[in-house]
Amino acid sequence: SVLEMEVEQINKGKYEHYMQKEIHEQPESLTTTMRGRLIRGGSCKAKSVLLGGLKDHLKTIRRSRRIVFIGCGTSYNAALAARPILEELSGIPVTMEVASDLLDRQGPIYREDTAVFVSQSGETADTLQALEYALENGALCVGITNTVGSAIARNTHCGVHINAGCEIGVASTKAYTSQIVVMAMLALAIGDDTISSQARREAIIDGLFDLPGKVKEVLKLDQEMKDLAKLLIAEQSLLVFGRGYNYATALEGALKVKEVALMHSEGILAGEMKHGPLALVDETLPIVVIATRDACFSKQQSVIQQLHARKGRLIVMCTEGDAASVCVGGSSRVIEVPRVEDCLQPVINIVPLQLLAYHLTVLRGYNVDQPRNLAKSVTTQ
Ligand code: G6P
Repeated sequence: SVLEMEVEQINKGKYEHYMQKEIHEQPESLTTTMRGRLIRGGSCKAKSVLLGGLKDHLKTIRRSRRIVFIGCGTSYNAALAARPILEELSGIPVTMEVASDLLDRQGPIYREDTAVFVSQSGETADTLQALEYALENGALCVGITNTVGSAIARNTHCGVHINAGCEIGVASTKAYTSQIVVMAMLALAIGDDTISSQARREAIIDGLFDLPGKVKEVLKLDQEMKDLAKLLIAEQSLLVFGRGYNYATALEGALKVKEVALMHSEGILAGEMKHGPLALVDETLPIVVIATRDACFSKQQSVIQQLHARKGRLIVMCTEGDAASVCVGGSSRVIEVPRVEDCLQPVINIVPLQLLAYHLTVLRGYNVDQPRNLAKSVTTQ
């Protein structure tokens, strides 16, 4: 009806689509996610993190033998992005489970496990069923959801709300970045009793305070990503290479392109390049390589050289000021992004890829907010 259309326009504000609005809203949604949870510290008080819904369970989590992340789609990717920092700060092995696959295998879950369920809606059928399975097996179950009162929020022992605000676009964007931030805060909270990592934890907390401002900066790439989308509009396929903290960025960037722009796209673990993907490389197939500064940078530089040697059509994402160090032969396109603490870099790096997927979709004439065949919340198996 006309009324419904008007309400929609009010909700979208100055934006044409919800996905676009939700991408540009990320400086604010991240601020809301962190509100009241970061302690700035002072002369005698250390910087720290306060997660009210977890504080009575932190001791149990620290004693667990393993932390298992369980989710689907973008929520799984967010957990994957947080995995390295959780392993580093907790010292506990962290394993990953796609909810449906855990159920298919009836994989082992033990009483000594902490199972973390990640879900924007809190209602995804596979994740919910995996939760029932983990409860039956006696694991401590933690929920990370964006929906207060959702089934996953209600049925877990404890948890953290993402507080990203209502997300309407079927393709998850602001919930993804807020999920990563919540899981980084989870890692900080679990590691809170370790003196040796205090400086590292404080650097991450400083990085969290700065993050909304840095996201605002990276959003300025909007026009550049639109121009890139124009170049890629008629492509059949797009590969995205990442590793370490940004393996998840590669998977999530490819998922965005696939689900909204309806273009084949694949996230590739750069360390596996020689075990298959290299066979695809030629002068025509566009390849995004994520090579921002972290401990894997020199390895990614060598990946770029090897792709270049096979005449790969490269689009390199690098840290501001690094264009010269990642450009080989001057042929590749560069996306320069602001630098943040390494474990938070996935929050920055996904933004240009969200923008690229958005513009590709609009230019290709597809429905951005409701891609064909997909649903926001998959409540049946
Ligand atoms: C559907 C949505 C995705 C989402 C996934 C998991 O596939 O289209 O955007 O990532 O479900 O949803 P959840 O609500 O559990 O995060």
